[in-house]
Amino acid sequence: MMAKNSHNDIDNPPSFVVEMRGIVKRFPGVLANDHVDFRLHRGEIHALLGENGAGKSTLMNVLAGLYRQEVGTVLVNGQLVNFSSPGDAIQAGIGMVHQHFMLVPSQSVTENILLGLDKPRFRMELAKYDSVIAELGERFGLRVDPRAKIWQLSVGEQQRVEIIKMLYRGAEVLIMDEPTAVLAPQEIEVLFNTLHSMIANGKSIIFISHKLQEVMAIADRVTVLQRGKTTAEGLEIENITRRELAHLMVGRDVVFRVDKKPSEPGNVVLDVQNVVAENDKGLTAIQNLSLQVRAGEIFGLAGVAGNGQRELAQVITGLRKVNQGRVLLNNKVISNRSARFSIQRGLAYVPEDRTHVGTSPNLSMTDNVIMKNYRQPPIARGWAIDMTTATTFAKDLKQDYDIAIPNVDTPVRLLSGGNLQRVILAREISGAPTLMVAVQPTRGLDVGAIESVHRLLLSQREAGTAILLISEDLEELLALSDCIAVIYEGQIMGEVMDENIDIIGLMMTGMDLEEIQAGGSAKNV
Ligand SMILES: Nc1ncnc2c1ncn2[C@@H]1O[C@H](COP(=O)(O)OP(=O)(O)O)[C@@H](O)[C@H]1O
Ligand SMILES: [Mg+2]
Repeated sequence: MMAKNSHNDIDNPPSFVVEMRGIVKRFPGVLANDHVDFRLHRGEIHALLGENGAGKSTLMNVLAGLYRQEVGTVLVNGQLVNFSSPGDAIQAGIGMVHQHFMLVPSQSVTENILLGLDKPRFRMELAKYDSVIAELGERFGLRVDPRAKIWQLSVGEQQRVEIIKMLYRGAEVLIMDEPTAVLAPQEIEVLFNTLHSMIANGKSIIFISHKLQEVMAIADRVTVLQRGKTTAEGLEIENITRRELAHLMVGRDVVFRVDKKPSEPGNVVLDVQNVVAENDKGLTAIQNLSLQVRAGEIFGLAGVAGNGQRELAQVITGLRKVNQGRVLLNNKVISNRSARFSIQRGLAYVPEDRTHVGTSPNLSMTDNVIMKNYRQPPIARGWAIDMTTATTFAKDLKQDYDIAIPNVDTPVRLLSGGNLQRVILAREISGAPTLMVAVQPTRGLDVGAIESVHRLLLSQREAGTAILLISEDLEELLALSDCIAVIYEGQIMGEVMDENIDIIGLMMTGMDLEEIQAGGSAKNV
């Protein structure tokens, strides 16, 4: 050896199993990976940490041969590689278990594992492979019946099948994309044992997560991504606190400051009182949640996806029943009534799913913008719709909201995301709402469209509308909100007025505000 290994020593390649340098990957309108560096040591569990949309899956899809980087190099065992398919990657010993499994439900575990491999499929032969697979599973603590059909298995078991599949194909490096997202706490423990036994068997693991506690619990080292950029590379977990990690993950200088006047909150417009509600699977999604939003303020609700945000928005907008508690809009109970009941009382809703809930794709812009008020004059004339008035109304909105559409008779499915969002906002705002519920209003939009949506929300705030802004984008929340609450597992962890990113980050991982303010007694805080 001429020189000691060092992270910066490019001329003397160190013994990294995987080394990714300066990876750039772009999607239309998004720079998903912006010169990202990542280095995996042999025999370690390396966490890739970052908020939703930070670019974690993209980076690992590059490593796993699913995407090709535009710039940057990938080395495996010190050799430059150029994968053009997941098959190439697995040849080089790299296997990825995706967030969404890719198994055939009607086939057995063994059949799924052999799928795509050049192996005989006769019944007799399969029996032989059953035992090989059972043994492999046994070795890594991946208990699953090789003969069971996939549809008979729990999600946790299906994940084990995916892991065995990669091990069977000879993976030396296993990439796990948010593996705990689909698991119950007890299953997570089993998974963690499996990860340790893989390390004991000489494998190396990349563990993708947005959950701080998990990363602290399982990883040897961590690389943090934030908006496509590396904010920390290969830090040893032992040398970092949870608080520091939270900052690396969510803390950032707010790039643009939105000009906004100080808020002058008025009366309580939205009053959510001790609401309990279920998700589509019948599990409790909202647990005794209360919050209040006042006229003329933007109340930001932060949280990692899947913590009850969607269900809360649906409860407020009349699309989901509450099991307990109630929701008041201007002192009238609106929970367990219809959506129309709330709309008539001043509710505007900018939903997350713009194409299905927000608009009718095949209808014209005119039809879409009159959806809410076609029953009222001047658009309704007797029983008929006054199309001249409707068209004029749509044309005015097109002008006022700068909607790029050839003409108002064009079906809205032809619009870009930003323009579609402006159509929805135009329609919702034109009803002069007293309450607006906006869910991820800028997701997937480019910078220009984001700014215009932000301006529209602020102008509504100045017009005195109470706004509940539900977003996973902390920068957006910090820029717009007068007050930010954090939701975690259907509960509010706390509410802050100032822009304390670290505290918000900790609450997003399930610590409540009192616990945080009681201050740092826990080891890693
Ligand atoms: N196939 C794709 N097409 C277009 N945009 C994508 C695609 N995959 C990811 N993105 C975008 O790239 C960014 C990074 O996404 P992703 O890598 O999935 O983040 P993470 O895994 O950290 O949540 C996001 O803005 C996302 O919307
Ligand atoms: Mg991802």
